[in-house]
Amino acid sequence: MPSYYLSYEPIPQSAYAKGDIAVAFWEIVSQRHNAKKFNGKKINNEKITELFDIIRMAPSADNLQPWKIKVISDRNTLDKLTPATPPFNQEKMRTCSHLLVFCADQDLEMRWSRVESAARQAGLPGREITHMAGVANMILNRSPEERLNRSQRDVFLAAGNAINGASSLGFDSSIIGSFNPKEFTRILKLPRTLEPTLIIAIGYAADTPPQKLRFSKEDVFF
Ligand SMILES: Cc1cc2nc3c(=O)[nH]c(=O)nc-3n(C[C@H](O)[C@H](O)[C@H](O)COP(=O)(O)O)c2cc1C
Repeated sequence: MPSYYLSYEPIPQSAYAKGDIAVAFWEIVSQRHNAKKFNGKKINNEKITELFDIIRMAPSADNLQPWKIKVISDRNTLDKLTPATPPFNQEKMRTCSHLLVFCADQDLEMRWSRVESAARQAGLPGREITHMAGVANMILNRSPEERLNRSQRDVFLAAGNAINGASSLGFDSSIIGSFNPKEFTRILKLPRTLEPTLIIAIGYAADTPPQKLRFSKEDVFF
């Protein structure tokens, strides 16, 4: 996959027809499950790189992309982090291939300045940049709590790409929302601008997917 870094290159055409993708996507979302444990097998680097690209493509408010994702695959660090998760999450911590610690970045000034200069370099029309600047100012002028809250919402969208992306690449995932962020910050020596928000363990599932329990269409759509 090509590497997009704050660039506005066109996304290559998919090899699939649109209808094929709809079927494949239905299979991804309906067959994905939150794995309770993995078999310990490592996911190869090529697939990990593809997953990173899928995650990076997530949308975000004003395109600030306020996420940083710490990737951990060494057993020693995983073992150190395990006690900072509750008992029902420990099996997946012990058996996953990689742990992705999704952090919300609170340095939104830096993000806006980089997005703005990339937009200028890419030759975006001035009025579009002015509009983006207006939205950025609305976000930047909020209280620290509101800024963090907004960043965390974007992080959740990136996490959605991660779980469905993992499934599309042939491996499994498990969301860990219950963890001690302070402990994760301490053990991983994260900078104070980053707030650990959600963890996703990835690997090859070693459990039986449970039946999907979902509210009906009538319950959801009105
Ligand atoms: C924000 C969030 C936090 C979650 N935290 C945990 C967790 O700490 N441990 C866990 O086993 N599952 C966790 N889950 C997984 C949900 O329980 C699971 O997605 C839900 O029961 C539906 O099952 P499915 O994903 O297999 O379809 C979390 C899910 C979300 C969206």
